[in-house]
Amino acid sequence: MERELGAGHLLAPSILSADFARLGEEVERVVEAGCEVIHVDVMDNHYVPNLTIGPLVCAAIRPRTRAIIDVHLMVRPVDALVAPFAKAGADIISFHPEASDHPDRTLALIREQGCRAGLALNPATPLTHLDHVMDRLDLILVMSVNPGFGGQSFIPSALDKIAEVRRRIDRHRERAGRDIRLEVDGGIKPDNIRAVADAGADLLVAGSAIFGAPDADGGYRGVVGRMLAALTAAPAELAAPEWRAA
Ligand code: DX5
Ligand code: ZN
Repeated sequence: MERELGAGHLLAPSILSADFARLGEEVERVVEAGCEVIHVDVMDNHYVPNLTIGPLVCAAIRPRTRAIIDVHLMVRPVDALVAPFAKAGADIISFHPEASDHPDRTLALIREQGCRAGLALNPATPLTHLDHVMDRLDLILVMSVNPGFGGQSFIPSALDKIAEVRRRIDRHRERAGRDIRLEVDGGIKPDNIRAVADAGADLLVAGSAIFGAPDADGGYRGVVGRMLAALTAAPAELAAPEWRAA
C-alpha cells in the first residue's frame, strides 16, 4: 500500500529516543499527538558507532500504525538491507551516499522495492552528491548533527545547507515538475524548529525533544502541539519567550 505524505510541514518523531520496552504504545501515542511520520534510525556499529534497530523491529511497529514509516539507514554496506526493510513495511528509505559503492543503483533499488528513496547528507558531506541523481530522489535528508546518537545539539551551519538544498529542489521542481521532500534530522526542539522550516525544511525529525518531553509540560501532546504551533505561528507570535532560542 502506498501511503501518501501529507502536504505542508510534517513532524517525524525518531523512535531512537522512545522507550523500547513499550515501543508499540510509544508509536501510537506520538501519532495520536499529531505526528504523521515515524522516523526509524538504523545504526550498525560500523558506519556509525551505535547499534539500534533492524527490520524485525520495523515489522513489529508496522501493524500498530497507519503513519508513514521513514527508515534512516546509517549502515555500510546499504543494499542488502533495502529489501528487508521494504518487506518490513518501510514507506521511505534513506541512506548515506558515502556508505554505498553505487548510490545511483541503491536509489533505484529502493524504488524497485516500492519505497520512496532518500539521500542523507552529514554536516560535512558536500551537496555534489546530489548533482546527478535528482531524478532518482523523493527526499533529501540534511543531517544537523553527526549521525550516531540522539540528544545532540543542532549544528548552526546546517541552516545555510538547508537553504541551498531548498534552492536546488525548487529549481528541480521547475524543470521536472516534481517535488522532493527536504527532511532535517538532529537537535530539533520547539525553540529552533521554526528557523529550520524557514530555511526550507518540510519534514522535521525530533527524537529527544518529543520522547523526552516531561509529563508536567503536557507530555507528547504538549510538545508536539508546541512544535506544530511554532511551524504555523505568525512572525509576531514568535517573539514570545517560548520560541526564543536558549
Ligand atoms: C542521529 C539520528 C537522529 C536522532 C535525532 O543519528 O539520525 O534521528 O535520533 O534525535 P534528536 O532529535 O534527539 O537529535
Ligand atoms: Zn535519523
